[in-house]
Amino acid sequence: MTILFEPNRQWSAHLAALLGGNVHAVGQLADLQRLLVDLPAEPLVVFGPSAPTSVALEVAAQQRLQRPALGVVLLRERLDMETMTQALRAGVREAVDAHDATAVRTACSRSLEVSRQLTGAVAPVAAPPAEAKIVTVFSAKGGCGKSTLATNLAVCLADGGRRRVCLVDLDLAFGDVGIMLQLSPDRGIADLVASRDRVDPGLVRALLTSYAPGVDVLLAPVGPTEAERIDRDLVVSVLAAVRTMADYVVIDTPAHFTEGVLAALDVTDVHVLVATPDVPALKNLRIAMDMLDLLGLGQDNRLVVLNRSDAKVGLSGADIERVLQSRINGHIPSSRDVPIAINRGRPIVVEKPTHPVSKAIRDLANGAIAQQAAGRGGRWQRARAGRAGGR
Ligand SMILES: Nc1ncnc2c1ncn2[C@@H]1O[C@H](COP(=O)(O)OP(=O)(O)OP(=O)(O)O)[C@@H](O)[C@H]1O
Ligand SMILES: [Mg+2]
Repeated sequence: MTILFEPNRQWSAHLAALLGGNVHAVGQLADLQRLLVDLPAEPLVVFGPSAPTSVALEVAAQQRLQRPALGVVLLRERLDMETMTQALRAGVREAVDAHDATAVRTACSRSLEVSRQLTGAVAPVAAPPAEAKIVTVFSAKGGCGKSTLATNLAVCLADGGRRRVCLVDLDLAFGDVGIMLQLSPDRGIADLVASRDRVDPGLVRALLTSYAPGVDVLLAPVGPTEAERIDRDLVVSVLAAVRTMADYVVIDTPAHFTEGVLAALDVTDVHVLVATPDVPALKNLRIAMDMLDLLGLGQDNRLVVLNRSDAKVGLSGADIERVLQSRINGHIPSSRDVPIAINRGRPIVVEKPTHPVSKAIRDLANGAIAQQAAGRGGRWQRARAGRAGGR
């Protein structure tokens, strides 16, 4: 059962229903304190939007020491960065927008799972990996299908919630992931600018937007002005944080080497390079591959994916491999169902799971990407160790 502290009756009824009705709802602080004493095994306290923030923080700070398995979830009608930072510092596990029903439910179930693991009430499902595998989707020419591939790959890799995937939109100036998945842009990477020296997993987790079971998204800023304030160091800190909380981090990128993209490529386990079968896209991809070679990135963990590979443009597979001087690891056919799905705000793997495009992307996720990722142990540690040694 969950303890809900919410003085306002309407909110209390709404939240109790949202949390499945299995709730001890109280509106007075004295009742909350009594329940905390009487029910020492309760795993979760939810502070509704009318509960004062100061009370929630005080209870969280107290219980963190006395009862570490108890999760505190704070719901606010408006979440500002300061409240979020203070809450997470006090030991609140999740601070979320009270109006976002999915986020509220996800935060509560995530907290219950943490409590279960802490108390050992059930055997852990699978020990979370120390570090997620990072899959970066890049192309050196715009419009090749990076965002389409990144969003669909994230859903495939999550496998219906069996794995945790964090999709990070590093196309900071013109990110499309939010619009492609119909996510509202109330929070995202830009909210970390003010806390750039204190980025940690708790803070980043509070800025994720939940999309589907197992898929959380860190959205790009809404416009180019905010994007300019996100530099390489911030991207490095964000990726270090997200990779502690997922099995895979999938990164969507712009079509050029920004400092954020270079930072991402530097810690990437699987570089997915996308091109379409036209000479300019192939030429740019070859140049990008040369650049990666020069930087010493990704020679042995690079996958080349040809999107819209069946387009009748007079280039054979052999021609393309010759231009690229590289094997093609995945072919995704062209279909008008792709833009139709995008316009509906749903990845094609969700909209039409048996479609040839969906099948090609799923095969790529479960085949080449999974294999590359499994074969990559500790690239991040090596990169860090190398840098530390060079200081
Ligand atoms: N396999 C496909 N078949 C048909 N249309 C496709 C396919 N893949 C992508 N598209 C379409 O191509 C367009 C560009 O795709 P997308 O936005 O994913 O590219 P991008 O590389 O992320 O572009 P940008 O560089 O602008 O971020 C979209 O309209 C999308 O619907
Ligand atoms: Mg894009």
